[in-house]
Amino acid sequence: MKAMSRKIIAILLNPTIDMIYEIKNFKAGHTYLVRDPIIYPVGKAISFSLALKNIDRSFKNLKILGFVGKKDKELYSHFLRTHGVDFKLIPVKGKTRSNKTIIDPEMHRTTHIRELGFFKLAEENLNKLIDLIEKECKKDDIIICSGSIPQGVSSKIYSEIMNALKEKKVMTVLDSSGEALVQGLQASPTLIKPNLTELNQILNLNPPITVNSLITLEDVINLAECAKILLKKGIRYILITLGEKGAICLTKNLILYGYIKTSGILDTVGCGDSFLGGFLYNYLQEKSILECFRLALACGTANALTIGPGMFRKKNVDSLLFQTKIHQLD
Ligand SMILES: Nc1ncnc2c1ncn2[C@@H]1O[C@H](COP(=O)(O)OP(=O)(O)OP(=O)(O)O)[C@@H](O)[C@H]1O
Ligand SMILES: [Mg+2]
Repeated sequence: MKAMSRKIIAILLNPTIDMIYEIKNFKAGHTYLVRDPIIYPVGKAISFSLALKNIDRSFKNLKILGFVGKKDKELYSHFLRTHGVDFKLIPVKGKTRSNKTIIDPEMHRTTHIRELGFFKLAEENLNKLIDLIEKECKKDDIIICSGSIPQGVSSKIYSEIMNALKEKKVMTVLDSSGEALVQGLQASPTLIKPNLTELNQILNLNPPITVNSLITLEDVINLAECAKILLKKGIRYILITLGEKGAICLTKNLILYGYIKTSGILDTVGCGDSFLGGFLYNYLQEKSILECFRLALACGTANALTIGPGMFRKKNVDSLLFQTKIHQLD
């Protein structure tokens, strides 16, 4: 199998128009005038694709398949074309949701306002998408099911998509949250990338493990031990991201813990998507899991240094690669 003949298909079910406002010393209850809000027509599949493009402008083996609100089709098409990302989006009735992010560069604080979404997806829309995925996905391709799912759509949708591709030996990747994640696991994805909140949801941990409780390497080992049970469900790669505390990579043969200490954190939205982009970029080049993990860490952290989900500078990635600290825990 030629590494670069494999294609990545990223599924975009619930796109969102991200409006990012930079407001110094932001406080609730005040009025602010913003000169230039930054507008990104995104969704996890897009942040992930932008990350791949920021690693390698010439990366072509990538396509986004999904939905977009009829009125916003041109906005998305223009944005994706500008970034050189191939796509096929099915226009649907209703408005695309819009998330607001307020970045306070003075207080180093970010406020998020998330909308649930207004899509009305008819059964025929979903069938159309599944047909499209089956047509586009070839043997050995990688499919990414990431992000939330539109209201009214069954939380089993990701497992339905992944199950439909089982016979084609497609590598399946799941990066979602809540019920969509829990139900998606039923299809035994090849790779999952939960953050700690999502891992708590999957393992039903009570009380949940918090990032602040991870102080020593022993705490990280205990966390990895808890997650090991997921390997028994047929998941081959478990990537647990821990925000500023780094990430764990868990496979049948390997437990890695890695992190990068840095200053200048600006915007952490999309760090997980960038992390996943980094991992899969090297995976497609058939690099070792250690090198996949190292690039993932560098891209995740680089994303936090630049505004915009999946937006980062290659030169930051290159210098962060040298700053990664990786411990082998097994
Ligand atoms: N403050 C930070 N400092 C350094 N690295 C960070 C920071 N935040 C995130 N990262 C890097 O990015 C990776 C992914 O971040 P995180 O765990 O926040 O993902 P996430 O919650 O899935 O994000 P999203 O869903 O918004 O993409 C981390 O494992 C880490 O390598
Ligand atoms: Mg995430």
